[in-house]
Amino acid sequence: MINVENVNKIFPRYPKTVFDKGWVYGVWYCGTTFRSARLYGEYPPTFLRRALALFPSAKDILHCPSGSVMGPGITVDIQHTEVIRPQIIADAAHLPFMNHSFDLILSDPPYSDKDAENYGTGHFPLQKFMREALRILRPGGYLGMLHIFYPSYRRKEGWALVALICVVTGFSKKTRIFSIFQKSNQLQLAKWESQKAWVVQESPSLKLSEED
Ligand SMILES: C[S@@+](CC[C@H](N)C(=O)[O-])C[C@H]1O[C@@H](n2cnc3c(N)ncnc32)[C@H](O)[C@@H]1O
Repeated sequence: MINVENVNKIFPRYPKTVFDKGWVYGVWYCGTTFRSARLYGEYPPTFLRRALALFPSAKDILHCPSGSVMGPGITVDIQHTEVIRPQIIADAAHLPFMNHSFDLILSDPPYSDKDAENYGTGHFPLQKFMREALRILRPGGYLGMLHIFYPSYRRKEGWALVALICVVTGFSKKTRIFSIFQKSNQLQLAKWESQKAWVVQESPSLKLSEED
């Protein structure tokens, strides 16, 4: 379960992360690191600790792509370098795990093909990765992705969008969005549909995306 109270308890000096009408919202001002970045696009300070604080009961955690992240949990990246040191080298499109292996997947992919050039990697297979994430998550498990948009998803395939958190690092810096999806079971899907009905009725512009 997403545990907003736990984040607010661990980070009492930050503005609250909020759970309202079936959604988690927030603005996480993470700042920038004083040291020079080890890896282009690495997580801003406090981001990973805050993200993990949302899921205190998650036992089996996967970071993919992991970049310079060393855990807690299993780390997967397509390459191994001096700063990128995953436990497993694999393409996010084909993950070497059994179905239903994880409670939580945290993901921070390159945001565009141009961005991928900074890592010497090609086009990031976002939709194939989403399908793999769905396969290897346990029912009720979560995928949290840091990106410049929230990825398109299919509710009927079993994803529910449960959180949108704005991640800010400073003025004139890119703002990112931490979106969290839950792998639904049929019961949750029905509950989620009824909770989210207000969004579609009251604000067509907020209509949730289902395109591929
Ligand atoms: C934004 S960085 C991750 C940074 C990480 N959050 C950190 O704090 O260090 C993106 C990572 O995606 C990896 N990557 C790119 N394409 C990939 C793919 N198809 N499968 C797995 N990893 C990939 C790159 O090697 C790079 O380490």
